[in-house]
Amino acid sequence: MDTSLEERQVRRVYDLYSPVYDLIFKKIFEPGRSAALRLLAPRPGERVLEVGIGTGLNLPYYPAGVRLVGIDLSEAMLRKARARLATLRMDATLKVMDASAVEFGDDEFDHALATYVISAVPDPVGVLREMRRVTRPGGSLVLLNHFRSENRLVGKLEDAVAPVCTHLGWKSNLPLDPLLYEVGLTPEVTGKVNLLGGWRLVKCVNRK
Ligand SMILES: C[S@@+](CC[C@H](N)C(=O)[O-])C[C@H]1O[C@@H](n2cnc3c(N)ncnc32)[C@H](O)[C@@H]1O
Repeated sequence: MDTSLEERQVRRVYDLYSPVYDLIFKKIFEPGRSAALRLLAPRPGERVLEVGIGTGLNLPYYPAGVRLVGIDLSEAMLRKARARLATLRMDATLKVMDASAVEFGDDEFDHALATYVISAVPDPVGVLREMRRVTRPGGSLVLLNHFRSENRLVGKLEDAVAPVCTHLGWKSNLPLDPLLYEVGLTPEVTGKVNLLGGWRLVKCVNRK
């Protein structure tokens, strides 16, 4: 059965989710968000690209003075992010943009962040390549995501439910190690967060 995501489908699914996204995902994913921003640790004046920023639930966790660009495929998700941004005093720009074809030059950012995104994009390798390309050498790439379990039984279960999850807008069985290997990234820090430690936090330093 097909478990690939398509751009049109992703846009449609997240446009549909947008009114209820925060209600469903804000609380359960919160511990991971604060941990991801602590790990990214951007300093005032630094430029950060957040890909698949969605409704902007990470915005309150950025330290003051960070210059943020947030991109997303879904205009409806971004509309929520704009409303959230309006309540904060932040230097941030939000744009509709495909994270696998980023309209920024090489090394333009100090860091890049993707929370709960990399298994929700049609082309995870393409997105990670773009995150690397636009991040300066020595900058950090932080990923927070559910990846296919290393436990054989759980992994098989995640394979079994993959077709259903694809319809819901994410891949349940994206394996982490082959993905990083394909893009030439080595994890420098990893951790487990959220309910039952089911989501992984990964920091890679961009060594070009
Ligand atoms: C599960 S949501 C996560 C949103 C947000 N990062 C968070 O932490 O709540 C996944 C988001 O990725 C976006 N997305 C999926 N594919 C994308 C792509 N190729 N480029 C940009 N955004 C994408 C979706 O529109 C959606 O807003």
